[in-house]
Amino acid sequence: MTWCSPPALRQAIVLRTAMLSLMAWSAFARPAFAERPAPDVAAGRAEYVRSCARCHGVEGAGDGIDAKRFYPRPRDFRLGIYKFRSTASGTAPTDEDLFRTVTHGLPGSNMPDWPHLDESIRWHLVEYLKSLAPIFQEAPAEPMAVAADPGKPHADLAKGRALYEKLGCAACHGPTGRANGSSAGGLVDDWGMPIRPANLAQGWNYRGGSDAESVMRRFLSGIDGAGMPSYAGTISPEDAWHLAYYVVSLQEPPRWNRIARATRVRGELPKAIDHPAWHQAERTDVRLRSVVTTAGEWAKAPTVTQVAFQVLYDEETLAIKLAWDDPTENTQGPADALAVVFKPAGLAGDVVTLQAWPHEGSSALDLWHWSAATKRAGETLSPNFDVITAGGQAAGIERSSAARYADGRWQVVLQRPLASPDLEGGAVLNPDELPTLAFAIWDGSHASERAVSPWIDVALRPLKPVQHAQE
Ligand code: HEC
Ligand code: HEC
Repeated sequence: MTWCSPPALRQAIVLRTAMLSLMAWSAFARPAFAERPAPDVAAGRAEYVRSCARCHGVEGAGDGIDAKRFYPRPRDFRLGIYKFRSTASGTAPTDEDLFRTVTHGLPGSNMPDWPHLDESIRWHLVEYLKSLAPIFQEAPAEPMAVAADPGKPHADLAKGRALYEKLGCAACHGPTGRANGSSAGGLVDDWGMPIRPANLAQGWNYRGGSDAESVMRRFLSGIDGAGMPSYAGTISPEDAWHLAYYVVSLQEPPRWNRIARATRVRGELPKAIDHPAWHQAERTDVRLRSVVTTAGEWAKAPTVTQVAFQVLYDEETLAIKLAWDDPTENTQGPADALAVVFKPAGLAGDVVTLQAWPHEGSSALDLWHWSAATKRAGETLSPNFDVITAGGQAAGIERSSAARYADGRWQVVLQRPLASPDLEGGAVLNPDELPTLAFAIWDGSHASERAVSPWIDVALRPLKPVQHAQE
């Protein structure tokens, strides 16, 4: 870093660096807790029964009353197999590894974070977990030594990329990390459950931390039980950093906007995916979740975890471009499909979400849908998604669309009239209001695992700034 940058910029850099290092695994792996309490397994057990047993089971066997609802399943602690370690494959995690998992949880899985528990209670929990498996008594856990961090500016990304290919990361994680490698399908974990490689483009979804050191620890230590091998000994310490920074470079920072902003177009509204007009449109990313099944249980976690969308409009028409990662293109049988669902006025958003729709007696919603089977879009009012999952015809009024599947990603452009005079009871999008919509996405390979979004407001006109009283 040069020191001739203007003071403000320099301050910003220092601040950012401080924030980044705060976020890094290393900050948690260091024994930052001078006052770690004396081990108290009984206190750990008491908290465990209170907070953890419903998933991990009263005796730690991973068989709590809620366990069956989750993929991956809550860990069976008696086996001593841990995924997120700083230690060699097949060995126990360090106390700090466990402390970190308990504190931060495992994003992208159903393992919650517990930062609100007293620090001393979290240490007692760690002691209790260690009492459940013999592996902790066999040998003290040793973090693997790593070379000093060269820093991002000194990382050789081209070299990292070559290593990513050579070491076979791409075979599972896909050429650009979208979990679409040739060996990605059909993986089974040590507990006999299907497992998918992580989508490395979604840094927010990494369970063990998305910074370079965490990533490096993942491939040096391996992810025990998950079929992700350890690369310790097959890569030099310097190369490990090049590879780790390359993986970090695959992450696409999400834009979780609270309100999606549409852009008014003066010329022709784009129908094509590559139309330059899309460059003017703000992108909003939305996290997708699983649905509640009719039996009242959570369905399996969906393959599609995120959708990006952009909205353009003119006086008469609205165009939307969507992009989502799906490791396989399914155009026949149960096909990949999409529904943009409009929220009817007067529906309380926090009560009726797509996660619980359709349900018995649910009212009809306006479904603007597209299917990879027909490569056509339509719009209809329906009390359920049958019109979409049945594939085949574009139900209802036909709408214009364009679609492309490439490198593990669908891109779809749809257009519909703002007022929709052709569809009785269809959504009327008034630019002076905030139309509200949600998405449902199907991966044809796992047709029952529909991925749905919460309701999102779309601002067509620029939002007026709120006037604050002068102090
Ligand atoms: C709502 C369910 C749920 C609750 C409650 C829960 N867990 Fe978990 N936990 C999970 C799931 C699911 C996994 C497996 C995630 C994976 O494999 O990616 C997991 C994994 C873990 C792991 C394994 C990490 C590794 O490296 O493999 C630890 C440690 C853990 N939980 C500790 C706890 C503790 C301690 C509590 C209570 C304070 C707790 N969990 C409460 C669902 C839960
Ligand atoms: C045999 C298939 C396979 C290969 C080869 C493989 N991985 Fe993985 N990887 C997985 C699976 C499966 C997971 C998800 C584990 C889970 O969900 O518990 C994963 C997860 C990850 C994660 C995310 C961990 C987290 O924090 O959530 C990273 C980072 C990663 N792999 C990097 C790599 C790199 C780099 C390579 C090559 C050196 C590689 N992987 C090779 C299967 C593989």
